[in-house]
Amino acid sequence: MSVGYMEKLIVEGGVKLEGQVNISGFKNAAVAIIPASILSAGKCYIENIPHIRDVYLFKDIMQELGVDVELDENGTMMIDSSKLDKCCATYDLANKMRASYYLIGAGLGRFKEVEVAYPGGCNIGTRPIDQHIKGFEALGAKVEIEHGVIRCRAEKLVGAKIYLDVVSVGATINIMLAAVLAEGTTIIENAAKEPHVVDVANFLNMMGADVRGAGTDIIKIKGVDKLHGCTYSVIPDQIEAGTYMIAAAATGGDVLINNVIPKHLESITAKLKEMGVEVIEYGDSIRVKALDNLKSVDIKTLPYPGFPTDLQQPMTVLLSTADGTSVVTESIFEGRFKYVDELKRMGANIKVEGRVAVVEGVKRLSGARISVTDLRAGAAFIIAGLIAEGTTEIENIYHIDRGYEKVEEKFRKLGAKIKRIRD
Ligand code: UD1
Repeated sequence: MSVGYMEKLIVEGGVKLEGQVNISGFKNAAVAIIPASILSAGKCYIENIPHIRDVYLFKDIMQELGVDVELDENGTMMIDSSKLDKCCATYDLANKMRASYYLIGAGLGRFKEVEVAYPGGCNIGTRPIDQHIKGFEALGAKVEIEHGVIRCRAEKLVGAKIYLDVVSVGATINIMLAAVLAEGTTIIENAAKEPHVVDVANFLNMMGADVRGAGTDIIKIKGVDKLHGCTYSVIPDQIEAGTYMIAAAATGGDVLINNVIPKHLESITAKLKEMGVEVIEYGDSIRVKALDNLKSVDIKTLPYPGFPTDLQQPMTVLLSTADGTSVVTESIFEGRFKYVDELKRMGANIKVEGRVAVVEGVKRLSGARISVTDLRAGAAFIIAGLIAEGTTEIENIYHIDRGYEKVEEKFRKLGAKIKRIRD
C-alpha cells in the first residue's frame, strides 16, 4: 500500500449503492491475535487477516522484535516466534498504533518481563490504560512507566480475581493474554463482551489455553504450562459491515453484505429498522434496502451488545439528512465528535454539547474539501461524500487505510464514483 498522506479520495455524490460487498476479517481482532501469537513458540497460521495499514504496521513491529512473519495475498499470516527471547518494542513502532499495548500482556505472559513504549492511536479522547495496569499488578507484576516506556516484570504470575471499573475491551483482552500462562485461575469481572474478546479467547484456546466465559461479563482463565502453534481464522469485521449497511441506507440503495455474523450487527439492524430501512438477515449475509424518507432516531453508544462507538460517526452522517431531530450520545470516548466541524462545512446542522450531539436533519449535504480526523470519521466522510451534492475531496486518508481493506474498490463495485488521487 502506498503512503496515504500524499493521497486523497474524490467522491461524487448522488449514486444509490447497489450490488454485493464482501466483508474482510475484523481489524480489531487481528491486531490482538497477531501479538497474542507470541505466547506460544510454535508456528501460528492466522487466516482472514485484512490487508490494511494497521496489520502492516503490526507485521513491522513483530519483525522488529525478532519474530518471523509472512502475510500472503489471501490474508493468511504465518507467525513464528520460536527465536524470540524477549519482548521490547520501541517508541517509533509502538507509538504508531494503540493495539501495540497487547504486546504487554502477551510479552509478560511468555517472558514474565516486557518493555513497550506507551501506545499511540486515534485521537478520540484521553484513553487511559489504568485498568490494564491494575490487572497486570493483580497477577503479580511490577509496572513502571518511565520516559514514555511501560516496563512490567514478575518473578511469577499468579491467577487473581480482577474487577474492571470500566468495561474495557483492551484491558479485558490484555489481562487474558497475561493470565493464560499464569499459575492458578484468573477471574475477570465486568469484562467486555465484544465479538473480538470472544475471538481472541477462541484463538487462545486453539493454542491450548483454558479460557471460559468470553462473551459474558465473567471470564475464567485457568493457567496452563505451555501453549502450542495452531491455525485460526479471524471473524468478519463487524464495524466494516456496519459501515456498508449505513452507506447502503444513506444512499437509498439496496446492498447485500456478505461474510458477516448477523448477530454481531443487531444493534445496527435495530436502529436502521427504526429509521424505516428494510434489513433482511440471512445465515452469513445481510441485505439493506432503503425505502422512503428515513426517520430520525436517538443513538447512545455503549459497550457490546449496545450500539458501537466505532459506528457513531457513520450513523451521525446518516442522521444528518433524516427527517427530524436525532440525539446522539457518545458514552465511550469523550473526544469522538471532533469530526462534526467538517460535516458542518458540508451543510450538516449539528450542535455538540459535551458528549451529546443534536442532529437536525437537512435536505441534503453539499460536497466540500474535508480532512479526516480519525479512522472511523474517515469512513463516515466517504458516506457523507456519497450522499452530498457535487464533489467531496477527502484529505488525510491514511486514517482510512489503517482499517478499511480495498475501500474504494469495494465502494466502486457498488456503483460509487470514488477515486484515489495523488496530491
Ligand atoms: C477498542 C477498539 C476501538 C473501540 C473501543 C470501544 C481495538 C483495537 N480498538 O479500543 O475500536 O472504539 O474498543 O469499543 O479493539 N478505559 C479506561 N481505562 C482503561 C481502559 C479503558 O478508563 O484502562 C476507558 C476508555 O477511556 C473508554 C472506555 O474505557 O472510555 C472503553 O475503552 P476500551 O474498551 O478499552 O477501548 P480500546 O480497547 O482502546
